[in-house]
Amino acid sequence: MLMPNTHRQVVMAERPSGSLAMRHFRSEVVPVPPRPADAVLLRNIFVSVAPGARAVMQGAAYRRQLVPGEVIPSSVIAEVMAAPPGGPEPGSIVGGAGGWQEYSVVPTSEIWPLERVGELSHHLGLLGRNGLTAYFGIREVAQLRAGETVVVSGAAGGVGHIAGQLARAAGARVVGITSSAEKNEILRRQLGYTAAVDRRSSSFADDLRAACPAGVDVYFDNVGGPVREVVLPLLARHGRIVCCGVTAHYDADRPPVGMTDIAMQLIVKSLRMQGFLVADYLPRWGTAQRELHALQKSGELTVLEDIRDGLDSAPGALIEMLAGGNIGQLAVRLAPDPAGWPS
Ligand SMILES: NC(=O)c1ccc[n+]([C@@H]2O[C@H](COP(=O)([O-])OP(=O)(O)OC[C@H]3O[C@@H](n4cnc5c(N)ncnc54)[C@H](OP(=O)(O)O)[C@@H]3O)[C@@H](O)[C@H]2O)c1
Repeated sequence: MLMPNTHRQVVMAERPSGSLAMRHFRSEVVPVPPRPADAVLLRNIFVSVAPGARAVMQGAAYRRQLVPGEVIPSSVIAEVMAAPPGGPEPGSIVGGAGGWQEYSVVPTSEIWPLERVGELSHHLGLLGRNGLTAYFGIREVAQLRAGETVVVSGAAGGVGHIAGQLARAAGARVVGITSSAEKNEILRRQLGYTAAVDRRSSSFADDLRAACPAGVDVYFDNVGGPVREVVLPLLARHGRIVCCGVTAHYDADRPPVGMTDIAMQLIVKSLRMQGFLVADYLPRWGTAQRELHALQKSGELTVLEDIRDGLDSAPGALIEMLAGGNIGQLAVRLAPDPAGWPS
């Protein structure tokens, strides 16, 4: 393929103060950067849209703070255009830590091979970081036993909808929290959740208590904030909190907050709250990806995706996501799947 001299990218125009808006982004055409000797040049096929991008616009979170003019960071699924000797083959498809742009130059240490299974888009969701986060959060961190009650917040989101289904498949009663009746209907009818409640309803706390009559054994916390405060009093003795993310704190003036507000709960109920990073389980990603793919193929797992077209749709997609507008894994398609990708 002929390499263009320039490409399009979306950068942070200014640091947000308050809720994210279109003015915080700028689309620009810039030269395709030169490739350092230890880096790979990628042509992006998919770029992810993740709440963590909003967090780093504000302050250091999963990575260092973004500065104005920098590309919005994201996971990408991409074709290798050029690589150092010993690196991935040009033409191969990889995952990488890239950004909202048509081409990314990524250090070889920040790309990963893809198992050649499943829809290509699944490698951002089910088989990508979010699916793997759900997998290890439920399989390792939750220490789940059959019959327990698991509450998942952000339950119809990229991580949440896989986490809930994995918990259900392990024999748990699963209760989802979202912000819409439409999402909750999908969770109950399509994904096999026992119940689903609306966090924006005036009866939210009562609804959640009614859905968890024996208390909450595992809280898979994707959002933190006021939702966590409603869940905490419902935790059963020896309950566990899978501390996955704090989306509620991302779209704010201040960097994401710490966890000191729940210290008393942790002490008086002998709770265990364990943070984790999906990268902690890197050597086991391949096994997990094969299992997740098999569960999806057998119909045990349903994949929800919200794929938008074109780089220009990315900022609006992130803004919508932070307002709860996505159902399932949100991603932006920049180019068609390569010919011959297995489905
Ligand atoms: N630990 C790790 O290694 C790891 C890896 C990947 C992701 N994560 C974290 O996992 C979480 C989920 O990521 P995702 O990509 O799957 O996003 P997502 O759940 O698909 O999208 C975010 C969802 O959060 C909910 N939300 C937004 N603002 C909220 C608020 N103020 N209060 C409560 N809920 C709010 C919305 O759902 P509703 O409106 O329906 O509630 C929205 O759809 C994020 O916090 C992310 O940082 C952690």
